[in-house]
Amino acid sequence: MKFHINQSPTKKHIEVSFDSKETLRVSDDTIRIGVQDAKKVSMKKFSRLARSIVRTAHAHRASHLTIDWDSFKLFPILASFSDAERAERIAIEMLLANYSFTAYKTTPKNGWPTVKEVLFTGVPQKSLPAVKSALARSVIIGEEMNAARTLANTPGSDMPPKKMSLAAQKAAQGIAGLKVSILGTKEMKRLGMGAILGVGQGSVHESQFIVLEYSGGKKGEKPVALVGKGITYDTGGLGLKPADAMMGMHMDMTGGALVIHAITLAARLKTKRNIVAVVAAAENAVGKESYRMGDILKGMSGKMIEVRHTDAEGRLVLSDALTYVQKKFSPKLIIDVATLTGAALVALGQSASILLSRDEKLAWDIHMKGNAVGDCTWPLPLWDDFKPELESKVADISNIGKTRYGGTINGGMFLAEFVDEKQPWVHIDIAPRMESVEGDHLADGATGEPMRLLLKMVQE
Ligand code: BES
Ligand code: MG
Ligand code: ZN
Repeated sequence: MKFHINQSPTKKHIEVSFDSKETLRVSDDTIRIGVQDAKKVSMKKFSRLARSIVRTAHAHRASHLTIDWDSFKLFPILASFSDAERAERIAIEMLLANYSFTAYKTTPKNGWPTVKEVLFTGVPQKSLPAVKSALARSVIIGEEMNAARTLANTPGSDMPPKKMSLAAQKAAQGIAGLKVSILGTKEMKRLGMGAILGVGQGSVHESQFIVLEYSGGKKGEKPVALVGKGITYDTGGLGLKPADAMMGMHMDMTGGALVIHAITLAARLKTKRNIVAVVAAAENAVGKESYRMGDILKGMSGKMIEVRHTDAEGRLVLSDALTYVQKKFSPKLIIDVATLTGAALVALGQSASILLSRDEKLAWDIHMKGNAVGDCTWPLPLWDDFKPELESKVADISNIGKTRYGGTINGGMFLAEFVDEKQPWVHIDIAPRMESVEGDHLADGATGEPMRLLLKMVQE
């Protein structure tokens, strides 16, 4: 999708506008999107509306759109936004909506519906340079978000850990200041990463520990560390998931896909910060060598972990990743993103990811930052009260809680055991936003959230 400003169209364009009618009206040369109560439109709702422009265009096979800048005046929520900020928000939403995952569909004769060109007319002359650069920036953001979605959407058979390594190398190729290193079984053994190795030992695919380092900041400046769960398929292991619950588990590496493309994005935008991103990539498979309920794993931290459920594998691989980034990089902030618990969907439904941090102020701050960029999150606590849940009779810690309650908190509490108390850290359980829902106006599958939040966090 290409954006143009204040030109006259060279081809036939469909004119899109909002008005206060009740319905959507489409004719040969116009799409009118009815917004009943524009005063009440929140930022979240506005994003959905911007996406609905593209989704409506798809439905009517309109590929060239013209939108008058004044049509956004209808929305009071945008009043405090500069033209450049508006452009960025609208453009990214449109790019996300224009994405579809068609790699595994044999293409129909007339192709998949896609919007090729969007022309904004009536952009105030004084804002032109700022709007232009905002659009250029948005295109990069949209590209990386959509690339992460493609990684996440790819079936487990075609995205084993080594393919993820390859994807990380491809993403980083030719980008200044961005370096990738891959650790295989041998290197992980040497580092004592018994937790990720335990999870991956039942798979025919070798586990991979992927490290991306971007140096855009001052030499010696402590980096922000992004940590992603990269379970390329989660069968549940010997504690096998039922078929219904297993469906969708090729997306259990969404956190990994996000951090790979978030650091790539930050690098492409020439962010003046040092950043590292690591992905603990493994397949949680059923095999002759699968780890068992009752096994005790010794991770890189030295802690002994009793595996009371092989399906609580994400926290295991992350425990080694969290230990690694602290030892190797002493980051000023760690953000991990993981499709960690089904309980997160029970708690919040499918409209927001869950934030967990020992530092409540940090959690709320991140919540607000997410709101500003369109990534909705909501916090849950990590109080000491929950600690006894993870006690083990035979090892230092159990990988699941004693009760069925507070599953997302238990996941966070487990991770917290591997993070130094003084280390600023936040865990984002993105299971609720792993897959899009009807009202999102996005293609089925991955959403790309919360990449804009990650970008904001590494930039500030
Ligand atoms: N990958 C799943 C969590 C998940 C479920 C993500 C649904 C997205 C949608 C995770 O590895 C898992 O299986 N968690 C278990 C934990 C339990 C065994 C303590 C769960 O949520 O049931
Ligand atoms: Mg699992
Ligand atoms: Zn999982």
